Amino acid sequence: MATVRKAIIPAAGLGTRFLPATKTVPKEMLTIVDAPIIFYVVEEAVQAGIEDIFLIQGRGKTAIEDFFDASYELEDRLEKDGKTYLLDRLLKIRSMANIISIRQKQPLGLGHAVLCGERVIGNEPFAVLLGDEIMLAQSGKPNATQHLVNLHKANQSTTVAVMNVPERDVSKYGIADLSAISEGYFKVKSFIEKPSIAQAPSRWAMPGRYVFSHDIFTFLKEAKQSLAGEIQLTDSMNELAKQKDVFASTFSAERFDAGDKLGYLKANVELALRNSELKDDFSKYLLELAQRIKG
Ligand code: UTP
Repeated sequence: MATVRKAIIPAAGLGTRFLPATKTVPKEMLTIVDAPIIFYVVEEAVQAGIEDIFLIQGRGKTAIEDFFDASYELEDRLEKDGKTYLLDRLLKIRSMANIISIRQKQPLGLGHAVLCGERVIGNEPFAVLLGDEIMLAQSGKPNATQHLVNLHKANQSTTVAVMNVPERDVSKYGIADLSAISEGYFKVKSFIEKPSIAQAPSRWAMPGRYVFSHDIFTFLKEAKQSLAGEIQLTDSMNELAKQKDVFASTFSAERFDAGDKLGYLKANVELALRNSELKDDFSKYLLELAQRIKG
């Protein structure tokens, strides 16, 4: 029985929704409270039992791999100053997992980014976590990736996270046509990338957490570029679903599209309210602000 030990985190996109900040700072390195977006994504993978993480990076994105590397000068200074809490945090980050960088030479789409990991994944199932989406697990519940890994243990097939979105948002996501197996668990009939409302078979959208069997690579290699010159992951998933069992599941985590300005701001507020150092003063401020806005 194949277990999921590896994950690909695509982080090589151009981040145009966040310009001008992303002209020089990778979107995945934008800060949520006191750590970059990518930290929360890697943390989720590690908590799900992933041992090897392949970060797909593009030009100008080396700050991401530096973040997970040692910083001897800084560590030395923190040790001398007795700032053990901060030192422990830095040491923990650099030993979180085996983090391996892979270069996507051109941002040719999410499907292409995943295909960049083919050689290192080999014949194993693997998780994919989008590098700009934060999923905050509910306490005592498995996180979104862990949930998919658990389902994969039982079904040994590609399994993806889905969530219900309002009709006006279907054109922003890959959408799945599903048939229910049990509460929140489905067999996938087909997928379509960013359909119009008229084309959409449902309102079940893919938020960016997947566990794939390695045969997805067969379809990614055969995939044709879209009109925009990209290889769409959703198109290859649709081909896979025609030939193999593919499953989908809802999840209990709270999701933030931190690559989008509003999602990013919400993630900052939500995580600040969970931060023991900030939550009292910050919630007081938010209540005062709400009063002021109300007039
Ligand atoms: P997005 O479509 O959200 O990223 O891809 P983007 O292209 O950077 O965003 P905008 O629309 O221009 O603002 C989801 C994830 O896939 C990665 C991105 O870095 C992001 O984490 N990605 C996307 C790649 O790694 N390579 C690509 O070619 C495209």
